[in-house]
Amino acid sequence: MERKFRIAIAGGGSRYTPGILRMLVNRKERFPISKVVLYDNEAERQEKVGKYGQILMKEYYPECEVVYTTDAKEAFTDIDFVFMQIRAGRLKMREMDEKIAMKHGCIGQETCGPGGFAYGMRSIPAVCKIIEDVRKYSPEAWILNYSNPAAIVAEATKRVFKGDHRIINICDMPIGLLGIYAYVCQKESKQLEPRYFGLNHFGWFTHIYDKKTGEDLLPYIRKVVSNMPEFDGKGFDIDKSWVETFNFLRTMVKDSDEYLPNNYLQYYLYPKRCFSIEDPNYTRANEVMDGMEKKTFEMLDEVIEKGSLEGTEIGKEQITDGHAGYIVDLAYAIAFNTSEKFIAMCENHGTIPNLPEGAMVEVVCIANGQGVEPLTFGEIGTFYKGLLENQYAYEKLTVDACLEGSYHKAWQALTLNRCVNDMPTAKALLDDYIEANKDYWPELK
Ligand code: G6P
Ligand code: MN
Repeated sequence: MERKFRIAIAGGGSRYTPGILRMLVNRKERFPISKVVLYDNEAERQEKVGKYGQILMKEYYPECEVVYTTDAKEAFTDIDFVFMQIRAGRLKMREMDEKIAMKHGCIGQETCGPGGFAYGMRSIPAVCKIIEDVRKYSPEAWILNYSNPAAIVAEATKRVFKGDHRIINICDMPIGLLGIYAYVCQKESKQLEPRYFGLNHFGWFTHIYDKKTGEDLLPYIRKVVSNMPEFDGKGFDIDKSWVETFNFLRTMVKDSDEYLPNNYLQYYLYPKRCFSIEDPNYTRANEVMDGMEKKTFEMLDEVIEKGSLEGTEIGKEQITDGHAGYIVDLAYAIAFNTSEKFIAMCENHGTIPNLPEGAMVEVVCIANGQGVEPLTFGEIGTFYKGLLENQYAYEKLTVDACLEGSYHKAWQALTLNRCVNDMPTAKALLDDYIEANKDYWPELK
């Protein structure tokens, strides 16, 4: 008999969940499922996404049951895969992260700079609590985790759930960039074979091979990207700040003499520029709240009111979602032991021999029934090693600070962050963040 999988989505009330549900519909022949449970601690948002999911499945996937709950036992009992994408403190706290950083003269992004630090300190306890619950009710479930800041979360889950190879931390940015590069070469992503190294939101493509000919297309892509005309975003469902980010890639590529940098490096390598173009009173969190977030929930309301997707903007045709596709494809590769390649976070045990043992590096991996196994990458050059060791030390200290409740380590972490780099500023930031995060952070002594 054909095996049908049961999925739980932690962060079921997220604006990303409708996309994942649509992707599950899209992949139903390849990856058959019998049940999706949405789990969230915010009953109201969850109900909207849950009702939408029930309508979607009734119309396009009647064999799949949709349940939504705020009860961990109900959510995680007898589950095969947990897709986790929670945002501890939601966008309101993201706004605080970003604005407190700006107040102290630093760029405070969602996952990078001091913003990422503050979010990490909220995310670690929240993510760990959910994993504990999953392990209580489904000890063997695969946990595919998107929750940010993924680098810090990965370092924490590695330590707290030592040896649990069924927790896999992923990010859709490298694969999203690969999609852009495929477009540049007039190819599909799946025709390309990338080589990539770094930490999450802190990495570089070193080669992009054409699978058929073996040719390395990276030099060509570099040339095209650095000479790209201005992109205005027209005709794409994309916010202004992302248009800015994609345009800035041209400069980042020109300035790096060999690789293709991940766009998130802009915050660490160009912090002054990032700070100067950000509005301290209207940051990315505001843009998301007023844009994508609002739009998604309005569309859900429309579907719920009509009781059907028919004729609504969120009809199942809109299923080309990289974010959702990536997590579902990874689950498929694990479930069916396909040995496909993915870019994911793994413990460094010789993958990059001149980076610290055990660091959570983001590299190309083989995904199969055993989880993700990294391909050996090799040694990296001095510039990258210096940057990555500094960044990893910052991430490690952030996790230490959170797990040990150490004020001093939190201060050291922020001091090491390239977007801060100054002890008094780090202290002032930390004190403001402690005040703002009373309901979320562990107490720091
Ligand atoms: C990319 C990153 C994610 C990030 C997302 C949304 O996909 O890989 O980690 O959360 O973008 O960022 P935004 O600023 O649009 O909320
Ligand atoms: Mn990411």
